[in-house]
Amino acid sequence: MNFKSIRFKIFSSYAAILIAILWMFSVLVYSNQKKILLDDVDQLLLLKAQDIVDAIAIYQERERDDSPGAGPAAVENQADFAAMTQRWVKEKAEDPKLNDIIVRIYGPNGRILASSVALPAPLALAWNFFNQGQGEKAFFQTVKTHFASGEPEEIRFCFIPISNDSLSSFAVEVGKPLASAEKSLYRLRQTMVFLFPLAVVLSGVAVFFLSGVLLNPLNQVIRTVRQIRAENLALRIRVPDTGDEIRHLAETFNRILEDLEQAFTSQKQLIQDISHELRTPLTILKGEIEVILKKNRPVDEYKAVLQGSLEEVNRIYRMVENLLTLSRFDSHEVSLASRPVALGDLLNEVITDMKTVARQKGMTLRYDSKTAGAVFVTGDEQHLRRAFLNILDNAIKYSPAGQAVDVTLSLTPDGSLVEAAIRDRGEGIAPEHLPYIFNRFYRADPSRGGPGYGLGLSLVKTIIEAHRGTIQLQSLPRQGTTVIVALPIIKKI
Ligand SMILES: Nc1ncnc2c1ncn2[C@@H]1O[C@H](COP(=O)(O)OP(=O)(O)OP(=O)(O)O)[C@@H](O)[C@H]1O
Ligand SMILES: [Mg+2]
Repeated sequence: MNFKSIRFKIFSSYAAILIAILWMFSVLVYSNQKKILLDDVDQLLLLKAQDIVDAIAIYQERERDDSPGAGPAAVENQADFAAMTQRWVKEKAEDPKLNDIIVRIYGPNGRILASSVALPAPLALAWNFFNQGQGEKAFFQTVKTHFASGEPEEIRFCFIPISNDSLSSFAVEVGKPLASAEKSLYRLRQTMVFLFPLAVVLSGVAVFFLSGVLLNPLNQVIRTVRQIRAENLALRIRVPDTGDEIRHLAETFNRILEDLEQAFTSQKQLIQDISHELRTPLTILKGEIEVILKKNRPVDEYKAVLQGSLEEVNRIYRMVENLLTLSRFDSHEVSLASRPVALGDLLNEVITDMKTVARQKGMTLRYDSKTAGAVFVTGDEQHLRRAFLNILDNAIKYSPAGQAVDVTLSLTPDGSLVEAAIRDRGEGIAPEHLPYIFNRFYRADPSRGGPGYGLGLSLVKTIIEAHRGTIQLQSLPRQGTTVIVALPIIKKI
């Protein structure tokens, strides 16, 4: 058993709470029962004592009537109160009501006048009480004493002092051994001693098994999670039909697995793509260098091969650089400058830079920024320049010679965004390629447009989105492509 497991924690805390509650409950029931029993005894004793007090009063009355002209003092003098009470106790000795009951009558000064049983010592019940003259008020007390059997016994006494006048004052004391009450309390204790552990054990076992059943889905989750490795990220946790926290846990975990699997797959794909893309140019480079080194050649031939190789190396270098930028953006390692950039000026510069390339293909680059005026966006000029260079590079690369490319800068109707539209009249992109066009290494038709690695547009998208902008690409085959970049503006002059 794992003492740190949730199951054990549930079990142990439940057992502790149950024991505490049962204990409290038992103590309450027991003390309540004890009080009820004692109240019963007290009530009986009071009745008996009152009976005897009344009987003595009647007796006194009769004695007085038998000797007319005599007052209470005379009764005491003439008939001797002690003898009278002894007679009375004797008379009452056979009374079945007195069964098991001790009756004692005290005379003035606490002298025992009559007693139904021989007790080893006077019980000295609240004698002070009597002496203090708080008469006619029943008083109860439990006293442990040696009874006839010799065993110490608990006896409950009711004591009623009657003070008529100093001479005829007396007290009645009625006692009853608490054995029978003690017996039923003992039986109650026994029942509790038996039921208490039984209740704890039975409910403890029930909770132990129940918690096992409830936690079983969680253990299944743990078992599945333990099997998950980088190689089998496709594994999913069975979602239990419980609708509880375990179900939420399983669902959350499956979502994480989904994300992880996707990340892993795209990572794998990326490595495959990089290897694939590098292999071809490196093979060519390797071949060319090997061939040229096979024999001595004129310097011009070396130069030509080196020139070709340098171009190839430059392309590879650009690709690696693009990849590096992308991965830095992915891992939020790029610290973008956050300065106002005059987008109109930036586009002008980009167009000027690309004009030479365009001219080589007999193409013209036209720029229209009249409606947008001088708009500023917040961002990193270098990165934005790189993005627009890539878009223009594509527009020139994928257009036939002699075509024009139009760059238009405008504001959206609500004036919050600036839109840069780069429109070419080139070969366009087939609709089936459009959804993937921003993916890394995706090229619609690698045979067209010359060299490239399919990284340009994904880099553009990453940069624009890092500037809280959007990029859209509308294209129709043989009609041309329009790339629309929208960026939030900060200032318009
Ligand atoms: N203006 C365009 N006209 C036609 N096709 C385009 C245009 N722009 C992009 N494409 C298509 O989208 C693909 C992806 O473009 P992207 O710029 O990402 O890569 P690339 O130009 O092939 O290579 P790289 O930019 O890495 O040198 C291109 O291969 C091309 O098929
Ligand atoms: Mg490109």
